[in-house]
Amino acid sequence: MKGIILAGGSGTRLQPMTRAVNKQLLHIYDKPMIYYPLSTLMLAGIREILIISSLEAQPSFHKLLGNGETFGLTISYAEQKQPNGIAEAFIIGEEFIGGEPCALILGDNVFHGHGLSELLTQAAQLTSGARIFTNWVSDPERYGVANFDKKGSVISLTEKPEEPLSNWAVVGIYFFDNKASSIAKTISPSARGELEILDVIQNYLNENTLKVEKLGRGYSWLDTGTPQSLLQAATFVQTLQQRQGLYVCCPEEIALSKGFIDITAFKQLAQNMGTSDYGKLLYQIASEFNIPSDG
Ligand code: G1P
Repeated sequence: MKGIILAGGSGTRLQPMTRAVNKQLLHIYDKPMIYYPLSTLMLAGIREILIISSLEAQPSFHKLLGNGETFGLTISYAEQKQPNGIAEAFIIGEEFIGGEPCALILGDNVFHGHGLSELLTQAAQLTSGARIFTNWVSDPERYGVANFDKKGSVISLTEKPEEPLSNWAVVGIYFFDNKASSIAKTISPSARGELEILDVIQNYLNENTLKVEKLGRGYSWLDTGTPQSLLQAATFVQTLQQRQGLYVCCPEEIALSKGFIDITAFKQLAQNMGTSDYGKLLYQIASEFNIPSDG
């Protein structure tokens, strides 16, 4: 399965932080925001990744991640000219996807939880239909919302409803079969002028090929669209990392634990981090090399 990270958007709610810097290059505690969705795709076992951003941001992403080789990945880049919506990623990425199934993750979504790697790896085996996840939130009106019937089957999906029918928000990672690009080309912009991902998903719901899963309390899903949520995400990461001495979404560690790179390559990555705390933790991982593997 291929993977796309959509690192577009204008980061309006994070102005002036996003005036000169792409939102996904801002940091969440000790690492750039894009490390988090990148780690999530890696946890799913996905190694061929397309990063979609504005043209101006591309050189910075390239400086940070290059062609992905150091993490045992293949990373390529494409431009989204305007923030035309999430579903446009499948039109921009059509050639990259090359008729295969594809996962899409939003560049500002952070996932953490026990068993996440297994859950995502399983989702990445998908060959037909679509699979999405929902998480209970206190402010569903900010998200796409899934409404379930009494048996737990999804009956409707609504983008940012004024009066949400449930608290189950659709999280920003989506798994699709090879039809996503052709479906994305058939949908029209919504009232907010965007090609909505929920409209693509609706097609799968209509065809009865959509699987919607509820992520329970064992999973944390954070978004980072506002100064408050950005700080909350940073505090969350700091708290977990300092308490456990284990990393949240460290691509170097995941690359090692998944066997994408060997220990020699990993040590080189640690050395590249110099005397930073990040580098020190990488050295510690190298010396232990039997860490629990849940990202
Ligand atoms: C987008 C999607 C929405 C989803 C959310 C998750 O919202 O449109 O369905 O729940 O991401 O972060 P946006 O970032 O466009 O506000």
